[in-house]
Amino acid sequence: MVVLKLWVLLLIVSMHGYGTLASDPDPIQDFCIPNPKYGAIGTAHLSILPCKNSSEATTDDFVFSGLKAIGNFSDTGLATIPVNPGVFPGINTLGMSFVRADLKAGGINPPHFHPRATEIAYVVQGSVYSGFVDSNNRVFARVIEQGEVMVFPRGLVHFQMNVGEKPATIFASLNSQNPGLQKIPTAIFGSGINEKLLEKAFGLTPKQIGTMRRRFDPKTVR
Ligand SMILES: *[C@@H]1O[C@H](CO)[C@@H](O)[C@H](O)[C@H]1NC(C)=O
Ligand SMILES: *[C@@H]1O[C@H](CO)[C@@H](O)[C@H](O)[C@H]1NC(C)=O
Repeated sequence: MVVLKLWVLLLIVSMHGYGTLASDPDPIQDFCIPNPKYGAIGTAHLSILPCKNSSEATTDDFVFSGLKAIGNFSDTGLATIPVNPGVFPGINTLGMSFVRADLKAGGINPPHFHPRATEIAYVVQGSVYSGFVDSNNRVFARVIEQGEVMVFPRGLVHFQMNVGEKPATIFASLNSQNPGLQKIPTAIFGSGINEKLLEKAFGLTPKQIGTMRRRFDPKTVR
């Protein structure tokens, strides 16, 4: 009986721990601009970099001007500019990040997901077929127009396609400073998973797997 109670307690404690780890930790200061003296700001180590002395912070630390222009387009007609502490140190420890995405007419943002963030995407201009798939494989998708937002729940596969005649622009906010990004095609075919397994999983021939591998090799895919 005692053992069982201990078990339940352990389970509750561990589940609580899981829930806590799934979002960014609460800040313990107003802000924490990483001190460049302690190393380059990479997304992986942000939360442990020491802050610079807050009395040295200036207004400019809280302004990011890199979203005025369009980014570089990929083969799928997508240009993204992620705004995370790597490029905008002022948002370090604040539990959020941002992204500008531009789509050429007909361009797509292939199915992908963010393991650590829910995303809310605002269509600044254009008509964008947007959607996500829940864990029962139900798809929730439709065209959203300029001035509308769509939310993509954390960890769920989502996608976008410009169905208008003109370029589309989307601004999106994510509730983690380091949301993570896994593109489904690259994760499956560009990561080096055993070919035999992929053949069996997808019912493809070795030749077809080779084609997919070349197409989604992260070294060549843009
Ligand atoms: C931060 O800067 C202020 C003003 O220059 C100084 O008085 C204070 O000692 C500094 N704090 C630390 C921890 O260096
Ligand atoms: C676009 O590509 C150029 C040349 O490679 C590079 O200098 C620039 O930083 C890139 N822009 C973005 C937003 O990634």
